[in-house]
Amino acid sequence: MDITDVKTIAIIGAGNMGHQLAVHCALCGFETTCTDVNTETLKKAESFAGSYLKGRVDKGKLSPEEAEKTRGRLLFTSSLKAAVENADYIIEAAVENLATKRKLFSELDMLAPSRAILATNSSRIVSSRIADATKRPEKVCNLHFFNPALVMKLVEVVKGPHCADDTVKVSYQLCEKLGKIPVMLNKEIDGFLLNRMLGALAKEALWLQEMGIASYEDLDKAAVYGAGHPMGPFRLMDLTGIDLEYMMRMEAFRNTGDRNDLPAPSVVERYMKGEYGEKSGRGWYEYGKN
Ligand code: 3HC
Repeated sequence: MDITDVKTIAIIGAGNMGHQLAVHCALCGFETTCTDVNTETLKKAESFAGSYLKGRVDKGKLSPEEAEKTRGRLLFTSSLKAAVENADYIIEAAVENLATKRKLFSELDMLAPSRAILATNSSRIVSSRIADATKRPEKVCNLHFFNPALVMKLVEVVKGPHCADDTVKVSYQLCEKLGKIPVMLNKEIDGFLLNRMLGALAKEALWLQEMGIASYEDLDKAAVYGAGHPMGPFRLMDLTGIDLEYMMRMEAFRNTGDRNDLPAPSVVERYMKGEYGEKSGRGWYEYGKN
């Protein structure tokens, strides 16, 4: 497959990452489908697309014609089959759970055209743990975007031992067509590049907070005003989701059996209370309706 063959992109999962990925792909000129098993989440994603595009027009960043064309390129559907049956490139952005992803990939393999590349946007699971659930492992890879996906430029392209050279080449070129800055990982490693680096910072910050050495607010201030980060690790966790932090750490623990990989107690406490961050209105911080 050549990059010029990629015309239709399917986004699987309309949550934190999926809804923005879908709008972004459509903005970049691709016919885009977006699906989710949760109809509420799908509805929210569809309504986000409308309000985001209107906001861009109001801000003078997009012409009304472009907004209309972009909306016309977007299809939100609860049918996985309808979402992928004509797709050239599929980006899975579903829940961070290996068993779910494996089941989903075996379904995608059956429903999608044989030419289609199947990429996972997993935050830390390498694609070799998923690829053998399909009959096209050479066409499975990691394509890891960052939150908020409409804004952040970085994408990690990860080449597993099963990946064909063409798969990663087309994936890399697709990122460029999406106006992103791809980086290439020539070998698989859990957590890839940036989540490993950010994870180290978050782990230390959580420890300092749990030891009562400083508040999470002051630790965030330290990262912002001392290191020039756009937001501190606690505020960032609220943006990406405390549920995601919990699930990523649990997945890492299941993988290694190392207790050091378990989520921090204060993360577990918030996760159990359903305080997931921005999406639930409360995490480390509180968020108003708007
Ligand atoms: N969704 C869409 N667009 C958004 C947005 C959001 N949630 N938040 C901000 N934007 C847009 C604004 O519309 C604005 O666009 P414009 O300039 O074209 O009009 C632009 O971003 C700047 O917005 P603001 O001036 O309101 O806000 P900031 O300048 O403070 O930027 C931010 C907000 C981009 C979120 C910035 O704080 C930031 O870069 N934070 C760090 C984010 C980060 O580290 N992400 C990586 C997380 S790790 C990850 O995702 C891995 C995964 O596996 C979990």
